[in-house]
Amino acid sequence: MLKEVYYPSEALSKNATIKSMDEYRALAEEASRDYEGFWAKYAKEKIDWFAPFTRVLNEDNAPFYKWFEGGKLNVAHQCVGRHIATKKNKAAIIFEGDNGDQRIITYRELWYEINRAANMFKNQFGIQKGDRVVLYMPMISEAAISMLACAKIGAIHSVVFGGFSAEALRDRIIDAEAKLVITADGAFRKGSPYMLKPVVDKALEHGCECVKAVCIVERNGEDIEWIAGRDYAYNELIKNESNVCEDEMMDSEDPLFLLYTSGSTGKPKGVQHSTAGYILWAQMTMEWVFDIKDNDTYWCTADVGWITGHTYIVYGPLAAGATTVMFEGVPTFPDAGRCWRMVEEYQINQFYTAPTAIRLLHKMGADEPKKYDLSSLRILGTVGEPIDPPAWKWYYEEIGGSKCSIVDTYWQTETGGHMISPLPGATPIKPACATFPLPGIITEVIDEEGNPTPIGEKGFMCVTKPWPSMIRTIWGDPDRFVKSYFGDCKKDGKPVYFTGDGAMIDEDGYVTITGRTDDVINVSGHRMGTAEVEAAVKKHSHVAAVAVVGKPHPIKGEGIFAYIVLKETIKDTTAEEMDIAQDINKIIKEEIGAIAVCDSIVIVPDLPKTRSGKIMRRILRSIAKGEAITQDTSTLEDPSIVKKIEDIVNSDDI
Ligand code: PRX
Repeated sequence: MLKEVYYPSEALSKNATIKSMDEYRALAEEASRDYEGFWAKYAKEKIDWFAPFTRVLNEDNAPFYKWFEGGKLNVAHQCVGRHIATKKNKAAIIFEGDNGDQRIITYRELWYEINRAANMFKNQFGIQKGDRVVLYMPMISEAAISMLACAKIGAIHSVVFGGFSAEALRDRIIDAEAKLVITADGAFRKGSPYMLKPVVDKALEHGCECVKAVCIVERNGEDIEWIAGRDYAYNELIKNESNVCEDEMMDSEDPLFLLYTSGSTGKPKGVQHSTAGYILWAQMTMEWVFDIKDNDTYWCTADVGWITGHTYIVYGPLAAGATTVMFEGVPTFPDAGRCWRMVEEYQINQFYTAPTAIRLLHKMGADEPKKYDLSSLRILGTVGEPIDPPAWKWYYEEIGGSKCSIVDTYWQTETGGHMISPLPGATPIKPACATFPLPGIITEVIDEEGNPTPIGEKGFMCVTKPWPSMIRTIWGDPDRFVKSYFGDCKKDGKPVYFTGDGAMIDEDGYVTITGRTDDVINVSGHRMGTAEVEAAVKKHSHVAAVAVVGKPHPIKGEGIFAYIVLKETIKDTTAEEMDIAQDINKIIKEEIGAIAVCDSIVIVPDLPKTRSGKIMRRILRSIAKGEAITQDTSTLEDPSIVKKIEDIVNSDDI
């Protein structure tokens, strides 16, 4: 572990929104002294309200908290409309395609595009306030435009990551009872076209009677099937629409969007975010954590299908009036210098990516950064998983030229925005450490009894006060919301929000996130529920039982490792093992998507189960990692199984 502390450069601190730890502490103290006053001040200052809020925080029906009740606003207005007066010709979105094509959209043009799309959704598809619209989109500007057009008319969007399979898409469409699906014919990746529309067709084959229309953006021009009366061409219909559209007056607590994420049971959770609290924090964290300035060009490499793409490609940067880059391609095409060439070309000031991408770019092109002028960079960000010190160091030295602040931002789909992160002009950084909670975010690392854990010891990462951008509920399942987030940890006898992560605080008060404590695996910064993967594996007709765990992976952070028990009837067929692994991964691709494919699948005689039938995953995790078994195995139904599994895993050299 690196011990050094890295101080922000003087130049950065001097002009930063938050300039010193004293300023940070003053803000944090202000928030703890007068929590509601703190949030009310920022809500008034940052949001262009159509009607003011009358109550800051309503805790009457905890944990169903309400923020800024009585307030009326519109997020499309907050992100784009209100900027027309001062930034109409400023670039809002810079799009770069996989093959290098560019599109620069000014704030005014974006506003027209949003209005036209909003009119199209209303007039052509009858979408009204509260209706759900699923987006299954590539990384093209129409994805952002469609999200904002939904916000404009009060429709609730649910973006489904384009890498999810037809089955996964169908589940999400049905759960949200979506009326409209917006997609594209496909897009380009690594120089070739790939398709999305056929996946939508497959998803809609059954069970999706709620969907009345599919609206298709033309991106790659490949042939697609058109179903008369259901499928409509976005590019054609939008031509007929007016540039003018009235903002829907939204209540602060009206849902802005749903975003499905994995939990510890099989069914993904539709995380519901609110209008006012979400947009407030998206904007504030852009200003605090990315220190966004009017002339900055900001680039986040995430996909709009994840929360990072929502908050830090679309909503946050635009609410802050920034120029945000959207990139369709992959960082390694045509070579591992792609990102650095783009940094030079667009003079990027803030670059935000995932540790998995940093590790990959380091491995594939350690010398690439030297070929480009990266001097425009001021702030580098990471998100999604703990970053390891070697990756941190390469990022700091080779990309940041040892002068940029690295913000290791810890947060989740459910938190809406950053929770624990360095402030680039203030926080002395310890590498690979998320450092301190942001002002207004009250966190604690506690043990099972709700007591703060001693210095250097692992505990549960909790947020002990509600915050504006927090998840409001799980769509259609309020009981699961309460159970998932407020069921495990208590503080002074009161349930508090538990993130599912472990954390540790050091002698200087720095927080280090130690990873999930539940059955969630983090693959390349993407959350994958073991139960979800197991449910897919079980669909293979030869599989009697399965347990899936995470195994450290040099690039992806964690890879998926599956232990399977075959049905009695085919137990001796070793020749089939290879095919079984392939077939299982094929099923996973169909059920979830390529992101959930297992790196290793081992056939074992049985799983380590307690006498009550519970699978001891910790043992399986240790075996996958090649660690010695320290757990007590005496409670197992058959303790000898541990050695048998170890021998199989070791002999397979997995
Ligand atoms: O385990 C934490 C990890 O990612 C989880 C949240 O995943 P998701 O909802 O998909 O959102 C990812 C993007 C915000 C967390 O529970 N995580 C996220 N950021 C960090 C992190 N782990 C360590 N350090 C981080 N900076």
